[in-house]
Amino acid sequence: MKRTRIAHALTLPAPQSDLLLKGWVRTVRNGKNVSFINLNDGSNMGGIQIVVPSDMDGIEEVRKLTTGSAVEIVGELVESQGKGQSVEVQATKVTTVGRAAEEYPLQKKGASFEFLRTIAHLRNRSNTFGATFRVRSTLAQATHAFFANRGFVYLHTPIVTGSDTEGAGEMFRVTTLDMDNPPRTDKGEIDWDKDFFGKPAYLTVSGQLNAEAFAMGMSDVYTFGPTFRAENSNTSRHASEFWMIEPEMAFCDLSENCDLAEDFVKHLLRTVLDDCTSDLEFFNQRIDKGLLERLQHVVDSGFERMTYAEAVKRLIDSGQKFEYPVEFGVNLQAEHERYLTETLVGRPTFVTDYPKSIKAFYMRRNDDGQTVGAVDLLVPGVGELIGGSAREERLDVLEDAIRELGLEPEDYGWYLDTRRYGTAPHAGFGLGFERMVMYATGMQNIRDVIPFPRTPRNCEF
Ligand code: 4AD
Ligand code: MG
Repeated sequence: MKRTRIAHALTLPAPQSDLLLKGWVRTVRNGKNVSFINLNDGSNMGGIQIVVPSDMDGIEEVRKLTTGSAVEIVGELVESQGKGQSVEVQATKVTTVGRAAEEYPLQKKGASFEFLRTIAHLRNRSNTFGATFRVRSTLAQATHAFFANRGFVYLHTPIVTGSDTEGAGEMFRVTTLDMDNPPRTDKGEIDWDKDFFGKPAYLTVSGQLNAEAFAMGMSDVYTFGPTFRAENSNTSRHASEFWMIEPEMAFCDLSENCDLAEDFVKHLLRTVLDDCTSDLEFFNQRIDKGLLERLQHVVDSGFERMTYAEAVKRLIDSGQKFEYPVEFGVNLQAEHERYLTETLVGRPTFVTDYPKSIKAFYMRRNDDGQTVGAVDLLVPGVGELIGGSAREERLDVLEDAIRELGLEPEDYGWYLDTRRYGTAPHAGFGLGFERMVMYATGMQNIRDVIPFPRTPRNCEF
């Protein structure tokens, strides 16, 4: 007999005999004539109800079952007598595969998310986290489907790198040197020449520069991988390790870049609305009332587009008091971004053309001399979901931008080659995957949408 996943069993017409189910016990209730087991194998939200008659062989074992135990059930799928489910399984055989010790920590309903973070290795067995990680998986697969449909090449950019894409210096170093006794140069500095790669190496903050090189030859590419930031931000929206989706398109301008971002976000939300119905209903009921309505509204309506200058003006004109005052030239803070997209606009908002002084060196200079072709997508509840730009494709302008930052164009040799040999206008963006999962589920903390979160002073599991 072959194992049937519970989600699939629930689609079969009842009656259906000789079903073999395997999973973990969520609850057991022992009555006089029957025992009820709620069995869950991670394939759906509610699991399935197993009815065990008290005259079944081995009923003693069932009566001793503990929450969390792994079991095998053989039985018949029948229409349910009780409320709350349309079908259930009449068990003919129950076998304990792995008994859970009595102190199994996921006993009671309603454990706090903070507590569940301390058992991140077990929390996928709870309703909320099972739903979160199913939605996360669907979003990842929908990402690949979206780009595949549009003829993009899926590119694997390196995890270990020598370049700081964002120029923000927030990188984790990768080294095999003995840090208790590192080799020194004559000047007494650490001699990185003796390190594994013969030069300083880091975990990547973004695959963009490599993706740009591939876009200048393969036209439309994307990368989807882990990225790392050693920024000491202890917020509910920052993780030290997070996943990013970065498309990069040749012969593409800022407005076409926004078009793609809008289509992509809508495609992701449409897919979870269609394919994760019961999980989203759960989030809508338990986590974020109004989630379904909001997601549907996002799918159905156009995103707002405005320049940074307009955004600043609207924030000032609103008269709203912020902790950090807004004025042209400042970096928008999370409080400004949230107020703009949630209160002033009420839907996803692209903010474009930021002052060059607050954006990365690779962004394309606008003709006004002040701003660059940058874009951030701000969404209600989450804030910044996407950051991107048109890229500076003019060699001399790019070299000047690098020098203005006090950096050496020579250090960007291979990157500048892409501007030397057949340069072309191009653009791209990065979508923070965990923030997308938060947006799609209404979950409030980034630590609860990634299986094993890494944040400052936290690297458990
Ligand atoms: O705005 P960012 O820093 O842009 C880049 O890295 C560009 N190189 C992307 C590109 O144009 N190819 O990051 C992009 C997105 C942000 O909008 C945000 O959603 C997410 O990545 N992000 C984070 N998510 C979780 N934790 C962090 N510490 C994040 N930092 C950025
Ligand atoms: Mg950004």
